[in-house]
Amino acid sequence: MLSPQAHGTHHPHAPTGVQRKAAILVTGAGGEMGHGLLTMLRAHAEVAGDDAPAIVAMDIRELAPEIRECCDHTYVGDICDRAMLERLLAMYEIGEVYHLAALLSTRGEFAPETAHHVNVGGTINMLHLAAEQARTHGRTVKFFFPSSIAAYGMASVAAKRAAGTVGEDEHLDPHTMYGCNKLEGEHLGRYYEFHYRKLAKDRTERPIDFRSIRFPGIISAETVPSGGTSDYGPEMIHAAAAGKPYRCFVRPDSRIPFMTMPEAIDAIVRLMAAPKASLSRSTYNVASFSPSAADFAALVQSTFPGAEISFEPDAGRQSIIDSWPESCDDSAARRDWGWSPSHTLETAFREYLVPRIRERYA
Ligand SMILES: NC(=O)c1ccc[n+]([C@@H]2O[C@H](COP(=O)([O-])OP(=O)(O)OC[C@H]3O[C@@H](n4cnc5c(N)ncnc54)[C@H](O)[C@@H]3O)[C@@H](O)[C@H]2O)c1
Repeated sequence: MLSPQAHGTHHPHAPTGVQRKAAILVTGAGGEMGHGLLTMLRAHAEVAGDDAPAIVAMDIRELAPEIRECCDHTYVGDICDRAMLERLLAMYEIGEVYHLAALLSTRGEFAPETAHHVNVGGTINMLHLAAEQARTHGRTVKFFFPSSIAAYGMASVAAKRAAGTVGEDEHLDPHTMYGCNKLEGEHLGRYYEFHYRKLAKDRTERPIDFRSIRFPGIISAETVPSGGTSDYGPEMIHAAAAGKPYRCFVRPDSRIPFMTMPEAIDAIVRLMAAPKASLSRSTYNVASFSPSAADFAALVQSTFPGAEISFEPDAGRQSIIDSWPESCDDSAARRDWGWSPSHTLETAFREYLVPRIRERYA
């Protein structure tokens, strides 16, 4: 079922014979990344003025008022519901899709088949919708897919340490359903762009322009994370700012890459704006800083004196973190579309996280 949210301007039934409105569609808009992305899309739309496509957002949950304000139309719906997606197809001429909706790594490991249903089934639905859009309006649909370092799988801690910085095409043996799903999403995007309906007589060549980033753990000052295995970093900071003790679920020596949410949004904007001819691959690593959990704790404690942080590793979640690389090679992103991180761990704390988080919990 497709339910428009009770606010602003929305028209659940497009009048027949009326031209469909050009639109950008964001799924999973109510999540951490949706928050940052929609703020940025709204800012771009303000600059473009009347020529800007409508911003259409959907999520399985009601969207918060501050997210709704960034959108022209919002809907509560499930990406697994094909009938709902057909309705969207009938209402809008979608030129760009930002497919953020997913069940994250920790939740996914409690219900792997459900994660597969949402993360792969929902992604196929969105890719199909994009390909159908391209067929009906005759223009390629740009499709952004946020992949994850969960697509990697290191055999052991020793193998992880020995591997050091990993490239996009190595160690792709994910240990989690979420990681398997992300890797499959990358492959499906490539398939829909280059090979979709290979044998059909009436096939559309390259209906979509698929672009994907394998993100590290992302830290946002605006939202408290939930359901990701990299959440110990941001959780530690938010707990300290709120004056709450924090029990870290991984060992102090655990090391994976992180970045701030503004860096993640900047990466999406840059990749989506890059000329196609400059792209040498569909999926890119991006990297910023790679602290250990102990580095995080030390910085949190020096920033919030008295912060109580203890380490009580959970064997299962630890094994997931141990399977993710400690650093990713982002040279292709730097070369092809000018990616460059804005922060070290220290500047991320000093310039972005601490001022905003202090304000949030003041
Ligand atoms: N946050 C990170 O550290 C990180 C790192 C790497 C990749 N990613 C990817 O970025 C994307 C966004 O992540 P996030 O941190 O915003 O996650 P999030 O969990 O905060 O947001 C995901 C959103 O998807 C929605 N959703 C879930 N199932 C849905 C369904 N069936 N239909 C419609 N909506 C549904 C949820 O309600 C939620 O609002 C995800 O694809 C995630 O895998 C995130």
